[in-house]
Amino acid sequence: MIWCILLTLVAVPTESANILFATSFASISHQSVFQPIWKELSLRGHNVTVIGSNPLHDKTLTNLTEVDMSYMYNQKKETSKKWLVGQKPGFLQVFMKDVFLTYFFSIMHDNYFQQPGVQNIINGDNEFDVVIAEWLFPTLGAFAARFKCPLIGITSLGAPIPSLDTVGNPSHPIYSPDHNLPIGRELSYRDRVLSTLYAIYVRVHYQLVVLPREDKTVKKYFGTDMPYLGDIERNISLLLLNRNPVIHKIMPVYPAVIELGNVRPIKVYKPLNSELKDFLDNSKNGVVYLSFGTNLLSSELPEQYIDIILQTFSKLPYNFVWKWEKDVLPGKPKNVFIQKWIPQTALLAHPNVKLFITQGGLQSLEETITHHVPIIGIPSHSDQTFNVDTAVKYGFGICIDLIDLTVEILEDAIHEIMRNDSYKQNVIKTEKLMNDFPTNGLEKAVWWIEYVIRHKGAQHLRSPAMDIPWYQYLLLDVFAIVFPFVFVMLYLKYKIMNIVICTLKKRFSKNVKTKKE
Ligand SMILES: *[C@@H]1O[C@H](CO)[C@@H](O)[C@H](O)[C@H]1NC(C)=O
Ligand SMILES: *[C@@H]1O[C@H](CO)[C@@H](O)[C@H](O)[C@H]1NC(C)=O
Ligand SMILES: *[C@@H]1O[C@H](CO)[C@@H](O)[C@H](O)[C@H]1NC(C)=O
Ligand SMILES: *[C@@H]1O[C@H](CO)[C@@H](O)[C@H](O)[C@H]1NC(C)=O
Repeated sequence: MIWCILLTLVAVPTESANILFATSFASISHQSVFQPIWKELSLRGHNVTVIGSNPLHDKTLTNLTEVDMSYMYNQKKETSKKWLVGQKPGFLQVFMKDVFLTYFFSIMHDNYFQQPGVQNIINGDNEFDVVIAEWLFPTLGAFAARFKCPLIGITSLGAPIPSLDTVGNPSHPIYSPDHNLPIGRELSYRDRVLSTLYAIYVRVHYQLVVLPREDKTVKKYFGTDMPYLGDIERNISLLLLNRNPVIHKIMPVYPAVIELGNVRPIKVYKPLNSELKDFLDNSKNGVVYLSFGTNLLSSELPEQYIDIILQTFSKLPYNFVWKWEKDVLPGKPKNVFIQKWIPQTALLAHPNVKLFITQGGLQSLEETITHHVPIIGIPSHSDQTFNVDTAVKYGFGICIDLIDLTVEILEDAIHEIMRNDSYKQNVIKTEKLMNDFPTNGLEKAVWWIEYVIRHKGAQHLRSPAMDIPWYQYLLLDVFAIVFPFVFVMLYLKYKIMNIVICTLKKRFSKNVKTKKE
């Protein structure tokens, strides 16, 4: 009987739901992971409302309402430059970036809630069955408390420590360190010390500075009767992470954490323009593609590195395509083709493209694996150090630190990959691993979102770690008894042994004495 009821419950398709999908990071590499998810939800008959910097503007999607927040790109442009350009990722930079980024996002969220489209939603009488929020910050979770509905967090990469904490997922500083740290798979002693310090620091800063600050913003726009943001975030049902155990570090994930892995962006196949296509077609010795993505502009690299790259390229018998964001590149050799914007997917798919020089952003890594192109990775921030380490681990890439860059090193690395076929073979192997899963990331995301809608939340998946105090979690109260007890026992044992030995000694020496006498 119970089974019948359960079966019908499960088999009943999720009825059309009102879904609010709110994202905050103005970056196409983040948003392109979410776009296919909100598109698919709307195609399945849900009424989807999106607030974000990259609306699809697709008139055929009649169940989709988009609040265009593309203004956020201008806000970001001014601030990101100073932080992303021309550095070797270091611990100090990550510590400072945390202070800076959280502050920047705080200003941004304040602006976000002021936008008329967002105000209409906050103060309107729409009802929502679920709120999906980009989960690098808890602030947009306020919508869930406003509409008294379940909350789902989503990210386009892994999750920082405070985000994992909201579901009580372990993030051990040694075997699963924060993904923003500039470390690969093997941690040195220094890495382990700094990763541990970071794990403490980032939580203290989050609890004492970030959460109260964001809570103020929420109360300002949603009203003072809102619950504390720290309680709202702990109410989260699920965390959907764009992680893939092939690319990312293996770590424990709780049932409330879903590793989507490889959500394929909607392929807006911008074709190659004829000039670029001719250049690629005529490059019989192969093409090396250089791009540092959309967040860092290669034209803003310090001049010394641009010189090194140009010198290297001019010496080599290959052709080069460089995503260069200015009109001219002084001293550009004949074998280098520059263009401000490159249709990356189409370029990587061209058979003459043999190597990709990249920062190692996750989207670029996924695209290059998909098109079987090995890489030279020059990481600069966030999860890039780790992503490049993945390429090194699977043998389809070479990592170079920007500060180590010289003509010899770059030349050797390019030659090595262009001449040694094993890099190509390894990227093909990795591609097979990456796609060998029972479902793809998009299917998984949609299924789990509908699961939360069907069951009005997923509190049954909540980790018990969420509901015990931190001193219990760290076993402090247990050790508070166990350590003194063990200490006392050892002390007593020592005392007893002492007494025993003393008496024995006395006896023995007496015996000896009496014998002598
Ligand atoms: C919109 O949703 C309805 C159900 O609510 C569905 O029948 C229809 O196919 C959807 N339309 C589009 C274009 O997705
Ligand atoms: C769908 O969502 C939009 C925007 O939030 C809202 O205006 C509209 O009333 C909703 N439609 C239904 C049928 O709930
Ligand atoms: C927690 O979520 C439930 C629904 O899942 C909602 O009714 C409740 O108001 C939420 N509490 C807070 C503090 O957000
Ligand atoms: C090719 O590279 C692999 C490592 O990636 C190395 O083991 C192998 O010896 C190289 N082959 C040649 C011919 O250099």
